[in-house]
Amino acid sequence: MLSSHLLIVVAAVLCVSAQNSYVLSPVDQANQDSANSTGTTNGQSDMTDMDAIVQMAAMVDQRGGADGTPGSSAAPTMLVTTVDGETVLINIPDANSTETQLGAGSGYRLVFNGTVPDAAINGTAYLTWNNVSTTSECLAYCDATGGCEFVNMYTQLSNDGQQESRCVLFADLHTAAEKTNNGADGMSIQDSVGYAAVELMEPAVPKGYELVFGPISAANNAPGYMGFELLSKYDPSACAVRCNQRGPDAAGGACKYFNIWRAVEEGKPTTYTCSMYYIPADQSTATNTGQGSLAVTQSRGYKRTTQVTDGDFEAYACSDGSIFCFAQQAPGWVGTSAPNGSYDATIFHYAPYAHGGNGVGLLGSAFGRDPQPGTLTATVGNLVHKGVYSVQFFLSSTYSGQQLEKPAFVEVWWNGAVVGSVHVGYSPWKYYEFTVTAMGGGADTLQFHGGMAPAYSFLDDVYLFAL
Ligand SMILES: *[C@@H]1O[C@H](CO)[C@@H](O)[C@H](O)[C@H]1NC(C)=O
Ligand SMILES: *[C@@H]1O[C@H](CO)[C@@H](O)[C@H](O)[C@H]1NC(C)=O
Ligand SMILES: *[C@@H]1O[C@H](CO)[C@@H](O)[C@H](O)[C@H]1NC(C)=O
Ligand SMILES: *[C@@H]1O[C@H](CO)[C@@H](O)[C@H](O)[C@H]1NC(C)=O
Ligand SMILES: *[C@@H]1O[C@H](CO)[C@@H](O)[C@H](O)[C@H]1NC(C)=O
Ligand SMILES: *[C@@H]1O[C@H](CO)[C@@H](O)[C@H](O)[C@H]1NC(C)=O
Repeated sequence: MLSSHLLIVVAAVLCVSAQNSYVLSPVDQANQDSANSTGTTNGQSDMTDMDAIVQMAAMVDQRGGADGTPGSSAAPTMLVTTVDGETVLINIPDANSTETQLGAGSGYRLVFNGTVPDAAINGTAYLTWNNVSTTSECLAYCDATGGCEFVNMYTQLSNDGQQESRCVLFADLHTAAEKTNNGADGMSIQDSVGYAAVELMEPAVPKGYELVFGPISAANNAPGYMGFELLSKYDPSACAVRCNQRGPDAAGGACKYFNIWRAVEEGKPTTYTCSMYYIPADQSTATNTGQGSLAVTQSRGYKRTTQVTDGDFEAYACSDGSIFCFAQQAPGWVGTSAPNGSYDATIFHYAPYAHGGNGVGLLGSAFGRDPQPGTLTATVGNLVHKGVYSVQFFLSSTYSGQQLEKPAFVEVWWNGAVVGSVHVGYSPWKYYEFTVTAMGGGADTLQFHGGMAPAYSFLDDVYLFAL
């Protein structure tokens, strides 16, 4: 009896405080608090876990050589492991298009000569093999095979005197140190020669991304780290597919950047790391050159291209340098009120209201003068990839407390039609995403409509990504 009585008292107190928590409008509250507020500090986010990557890189075995029947290819680009330490095999069917992978530029150089007896290359990124007897045929075969940048030619002899010329293709460069396959039972190998592409082609920039840096010999050590996956080949497009498919971080949202690099142990390539981040990084944090005997090579950073101008509202600042100001128009954004409304959609520069940084959008009369919803219109780029895009953003509707925020809502309008709506009542910062279809040609529009003061909704970190 006593405990249930206590529960009722506690519930009543919560209710009262929730109802009383709305006292001032967002403008009046910020005016009062900013006089002596220093703003909020943003929480720490996860940093790259190089130890875990090095540990998994040492465990995986991605080496191989001529296998199966001539002309049969190795498994397409796949994942070998995840950050959870679990070994998985996931094909990435959309990413193994040949033009996205590194390949031979013009010509080949001899890397090692053959001997008798000899051994074949047992190395990473094996592609396919064929029964080809001349060097020129073998190099032409490499040219014709997407991603090929190295060939190992040798003669395989069986006990019964049969011999076969093998031309084995790889999507990575190898050295004589990797001649470790002495032939299967009853076979021997001789004259194992290696040719490498003189010049590697720059991999195609994945759709919806831009190259930020690379190739350099250092990996990112940066905040907003989401995890890593090991790929069987160096393929930025495969990494991009995995970044797009990775579920959002509750605090940071979707994957917006990846760092792909090639791990080399004592001169031998071992695996291809795809590290993902919800905060775009750049070359300034690419400082990790390796650990122990593992060296980082071919490191490139790619950032997902958002098509919304200043989706994080950070470009809006106060002309007098204050920590608080607000406006109905800001770089990239226009707020529109209901016909008889007042400041129903605004942009605030005030850290305590923002999801990150200082800027944030507000739906609902900023002075609390009317209960009409407002509309924030984003500036959308000229979408060259017609087709499907993802609209992603964070919303918070806690300002006026549990009771008064109940009617809070936000609708996402794409080209004038509602494509998503959020009716969650009182809710702290939370990630949302909706898919939309672009018409292209600069004709696409994105708007956020909502707020019914005192049921305010704050909007931040808006991104529009090609899928
Ligand atoms: C902050 O400002 C409010 C209103 O002006 C005032 O009541 C409060 O005492 C101030 N707090 C500090 C720590 O100065
Ligand atoms: C990827 O590779 C597999 C096997 O080599 C092939 O069947 C598939 O068509 C390829 N996909 C694309 C998109 O190129
Ligand atoms: C291969 O053998 C030729 C002839 O003996 C020699 O000139 C050349 O330097 C050798 N190349 C390599 C990479 O070992
Ligand atoms: C490879 O080619 C040689 C002649 O070029 C032929 O004698 C041999 O049977 C072929 N081997 C296979 C497995 O096709
Ligand atoms: C290739 O090397 C791995 C060890 O890295 C070994 O497990 C595998 O058996 C080797 N394959 C051949 C054909 O030598
Ligand atoms: C504004 O107009 C709407 C309908 O157009 C009406 O329901 C609302 O009461 C009006 N609000 C004010 C503050 O006049």
